[in-house]
Amino acid sequence: DSHFGRPSGAERGEALALDFGGSNLRLSRIRLRDRSFQTLQTKVINLRHNRLGQDLTAAAVDGPQLFDYIAAEIDAFAAGDPSIGLGHCFSFPFQAQDRNSGTLLEWTKEIKTGGVVGQDVNRLLDEALQRRGLKGIQTRALLNDTVATLLCAAYQDEGADIGSVCGTGHNSCFMDHRGRIINIEAGNFRAAVLPLTRYDEELDRHSSNRGHQRLEKMVAGAYLGELFRLMLLDLAFDPEHFSSLEPVAGALVTPASIDSRQMSSLLTTNSMYIGAQPWSPGPDELPCWQRLAEALVIRSGRLIAATYGGIVSHLDPGRTRRHLISIDGSLYEKMPGFAAAIRSGLDDSGSAEQTEVRLGKDSSGLGAALAAILTARP
Ligand code: GLC
Repeated sequence: DSHFGRPSGAERGEALALDFGGSNLRLSRIRLRDRSFQTLQTKVINLRHNRLGQDLTAAAVDGPQLFDYIAAEIDAFAAGDPSIGLGHCFSFPFQAQDRNSGTLLEWTKEIKTGGVVGQDVNRLLDEALQRRGLKGIQTRALLNDTVATLLCAAYQDEGADIGSVCGTGHNSCFMDHRGRIINIEAGNFRAAVLPLTRYDEELDRHSSNRGHQRLEKMVAGAYLGELFRLMLLDLAFDPEHFSSLEPVAGALVTPASIDSRQMSSLLTTNSMYIGAQPWSPGPDELPCWQRLAEALVIRSGRLIAATYGGIVSHLDPGRTRRHLISIDGSLYEKMPGFAAAIRSGLDDSGSAEQTEVRLGKDSSGLGAALAAILTARP
């Protein structure tokens, strides 16, 4: 239970949003009224490369160090603001105690900062803001990005009942029959029906949260490139058949040398980078590698669509109502073929007719600001 429910649409005001979704954080100042949002100011904070010259996602760094840095960035961003509420969109599994606090259960997306698991993340943030002397900035909300996506969609359209993120990570939430938003951490789905390949097994074996987030590791942007690399690597030492891989075999050996953006580049521009090495397979082999990349993208979209079908069946077994799924995330927005795979997967699951799918761009920040306003004391 996220402790959030359907907004009335009458909410209005201004708030800060901290979007903590991976190693890049985004701070925004957002104004909302009459079911629409306006972003007044925004700034990206990189936790790996920053002016401290310290990777704040590393296990050797602790919670106060991480949040002191974030507080310093908030200070610079909100300079001169006497008093404003802040909504924190925190896209990791946490146990929500109420609308403004929650305990981190485990890090995902390869973040490893020490001493944060088991802690209330908004208390860590509050303490850092206090140490910095930022008394006017009040943390008011803590919510998952899927919850932010659904809140944001529901503010604009009363029919919205499913929120999902298809980006670096993957997850969904829905509005239950009592109007409560439930985060299901769909990325952690694991069942015998999941058709795991040996590439999925190998990726999991070398990940920092082995055995967890098994669906996410098959579908999310953080992992598609690595799956593609493992497949290419498998074929690279067969030069008789695939000569175009020969010059990049060395680069392929390095873990994480392909990310999903490079897969997208291969699909759209016919060339990509493997690590620092450019690769443009000739016309004889190009279609084969593009087909492989596409197959991974299609698998991802169809698996996710199957989970949407499951959610719709749960909410509405008789399929009697319209459903609106709002999806945020780079994979949905940018990866060629991904949105089409979601659509075709929904068609096959029999949920297509009453299910509308929409892009909920920048929902994490917008939804976090809305949450801060929802939670503000009158
Ligand atoms: C990961 C997180 C989840 C988040 C998702 C999308 O799966 O565990 O909380 O919603 O990524 O960012």
